[in-house]
Amino acid sequence: MTTAKISYNDSFLKQIVTDSEIEIYKEPVMNAEKMLNDRSGPGNDFLGWLDLPRKMPSSMLDEIVSKAQEIRSKADVLICIGIGGSYLGAKAAIEFLSPSFEDMRKPRVVFAGHTINSDYLQDMLSMVEKHDVAVNVISKSGTTTEPGIAFRVVRQWMEEKYGRKEAASRIIATTDPEKGALRKLAAEEGYTTFEIPSDVGGRFSVLTPVGLFPIAVAGVDIKKLIKGASDAMEICSGDNLKSNLAARYAVTRNILFRQGYTTEVLASFQPQIHFVSEWWKQLAGESEGKNQTGIFPAALDYTTDLHSLGQWMQEGMRSVFETFIVLKKTKHTITVPKFEDDSDELNYLAGKSFEEINRSAYSGTLLAHVDGGVPSATLVLDDRSEETLGQLFYFFEKAIALSGYLLRVNPFDQPGVEAYKKNMFALLGKKGFDKLRNELSSRTEAIEL
Ligand code: PA5
Repeated sequence: MTTAKISYNDSFLKQIVTDSEIEIYKEPVMNAEKMLNDRSGPGNDFLGWLDLPRKMPSSMLDEIVSKAQEIRSKADVLICIGIGGSYLGAKAAIEFLSPSFEDMRKPRVVFAGHTINSDYLQDMLSMVEKHDVAVNVISKSGTTTEPGIAFRVVRQWMEEKYGRKEAASRIIATTDPEKGALRKLAAEEGYTTFEIPSDVGGRFSVLTPVGLFPIAVAGVDIKKLIKGASDAMEICSGDNLKSNLAARYAVTRNILFRQGYTTEVLASFQPQIHFVSEWWKQLAGESEGKNQTGIFPAALDYTTDLHSLGQWMQEGMRSVFETFIVLKKTKHTITVPKFEDDSDELNYLAGKSFEEINRSAYSGTLLAHVDGGVPSATLVLDDRSEETLGQLFYFFEKAIALSGYLLRVNPFDQPGVEAYKKNMFALLGKKGFDKLRNELSSRTEAIEL
């Protein structure tokens, strides 16, 4: 029996997104759902994520758990190297489920290869110097520049610290089953490898070994995460737009988009959700932003951002709609203490928990933004558990896939990300890019640092 741990409340949208408009979208969204299920839509060779939570062999989960346990027993830091879909899912899950400060986590999972910066990499290596270290290098293509150069540095460092053989026993490569430079290197060096299914794209890969291995090393019960995702398959299917959460959310955001609300702000009230929003930004942005269309995904962290971008949200250009993401239950409860002198005049809050106050912050913000002309709905999460996060991951994946089809784009490709890469390769003198290098040279003078 499935217990929904997430819900979607769009009751404040009734005036803007009417029942009759939703009804008009019923057929297109059900067609989109059929295209996914029949594998007949654009990008249909990248639908491995769709039934993955139910199809994943338990032997694969056992293998991941067992390797993660081995790493937990011999390392107190895992350096996880990857970018985009090979980074954000693990980061999101670990931040959502773990204690707030890295020093409280054992082992710690630190990330590299998601940025090009010597200071970051040097600081990370200095920080892990006195620790027992393992490395998980993740790249589906095996050729991405950022993780590639970071891995060179980290591999050299590991080989100096442990010697080549021992270093190899501490390096796990997660990559394509057959193709790519990383697969070849892993075979040559004897690294343990995990396979990224070839029919799952990066941003849909959090529930494959890409996300699952580092998440398991962090101490998370990945079987519960998969159970949550598998439950979400139920609450995100069917032709009833009240009960099919993914279809409802996909339809709602498309109706708003067509009314001119071209940016969606995902606004959370918990710092642990920050990287879930970052993961969602990639999922939504890379899936939908093409063919000169697509909802721009932005994210805010409340109440922090209510003291900065809150002004813009309340009174800025009315081109945004807002999806609040709120949590019913935190792991701990702290209440405001009472002070007899009440010199700060906060005794009216004494005895209230931070969550009661945060709930009022949410309600107050929702009502204020609705009054300020921001169409707003809310995703409610039960708690910070693996099951809830698994449901949330799957819900967003399914919703964005449906939403992409409603926007008439292929949600599973990302042709636009090649443009900067080609220019970068040409500017760095990569073989085969000479012609482009010559074309660009006259334009780069003006931007030289
Ligand atoms: O969603 C995607 O496909 C991308 O964001 C990739 O995950 C990202 O570019 C990293 O690619 P790779 O795993 O091949 O290194």
